[in-house]
Amino acid sequence: MRKILVTGGAGFIGSNFVKMLLKRKSRKHIIVLDKLTYAGNMRNLDGFMDGKDVEFVKGDITSSKLLDNVIPGVDIIYNFAAETHVDRSILEGGSFVKTDVMGTYTLLQKALKYKVARFVQISTDEVYGSIKKGKFSEKDPIEPNSPYSASKSGADLLVRAFYKTHGLPAVITRSSNNYGPFQHPEKFIPLFITNALEGKPLPIYGDGRNVRDWIYVEDNCRAIDLVGRRGKVGQIYNIGANEEKENLYIAKKIIKFTGANKDLLTFISDRPGHDRRYALCARKIKSLGWKKEYTFSKGLVKTVKWYQENREWWQEIKSGSFKKYYSKMYGRRIAVSREGKVRK
Ligand code: NAD
Ligand code: DAU
Repeated sequence: MRKILVTGGAGFIGSNFVKMLLKRKSRKHIIVLDKLTYAGNMRNLDGFMDGKDVEFVKGDITSSKLLDNVIPGVDIIYNFAAETHVDRSILEGGSFVKTDVMGTYTLLQKALKYKVARFVQISTDEVYGSIKKGKFSEKDPIEPNSPYSASKSGADLLVRAFYKTHGLPAVITRSSNNYGPFQHPEKFIPLFITNALEGKPLPIYGDGRNVRDWIYVEDNCRAIDLVGRRGKVGQIYNIGANEEKENLYIAKKIIKFTGANKDLLTFISDRPGHDRRYALCARKIKSLGWKKEYTFSKGLVKTVKWYQENREWWQEIKSGSFKKYYSKMYGRRIAVSREGKVRK
């Protein structure tokens, strides 16, 4: 029986990935290892923790001792665990370096020690930095611009070094922006959907013309699974859906789909170092047989519906420690914008 370790499996993409694996018939044992930071949520795995095919371990990927207990016998590691929000990395970057760099290093050491057959590092298109025209290929250099993407880049370089130096059978996936059910409401799409449903301002940074390539989370999970099974060791795989959209376009769609008042759209001062555009060439992952199942409009309709039907899930998050973060991050900027000083 295959023993699979999923770190960060109580987060957004990790929990969607675990559920996808569990829906399959194959015999397996999944260990979800998660620190349950503000971003981790056991409710993301509700109905799936049967204690038979899947077990949960609360812990930190920087803990060498814990990994010595968990990793022996594991066949494959999917490392989703990370600090993931760019805005938080601007406010405080230390936890990003600790988890994303040191945590990955600790995992790599243990994967080597216990001869894990495959290590799948879940990385991001943000490591490439911003691109004006064209698309990033896996061969492009990394030029990260935020403490988050710099930390993820550090992890990628360590994964590469463990493959080159020690022969660790590792692969890296770099996906574009994910969206879908169970995404924390700090991120753009769920923040705008939930604020629209609550009649609160939709705080758009700068001129709202920044572009991201949006991928529905289930499409990314299928690609990660494919790379885990069929990807070539030592290789990087971009995962993009060729769905480039400006933030303003998405905000207007969310207003339309939720029936919110369009006056909620509020332009506020820009994110420092804000990457203008991300775009990925996905030829390599397609050559493994992957293709997206969701267009952006199909995925967005499904996502809006999920947040409409699962208010309790996000209201619980938004009423907790998130309130403090939100007012620190947005409070003054929104007030200023309302007076028309930053408004564009
Ligand atoms: P998330 O913030 O929703 O979840 C991260 C999870 O990691 C949480 O459950 C958290 O509790 C856990 N975690 C954090 N620090 C930990 C530690 N030290 N030890 C153990 N667990 C820890 O993130 P997500 O959006 O699901 O992203 C998952 C991975 O995918 C990350 O590596 C991220 O960089 C990458 N990624 C995300 C996107 C995106 O659009 N969301 C795109 C590309 C790549
Ligand atoms: O590209 C992959 C990356 O996508 C992942 O590696 C990150 O973990 C993930 O957080 C995401 O990073 P972004 O910075 O692109 O996502 P975010 O949801 O924070 O913002 C998306 C865009 O929306 C970006 O241009 C900033 C803008 N934005 C965001 C927020 C939260 C706003 O205009 N207003 C907001 O309130």
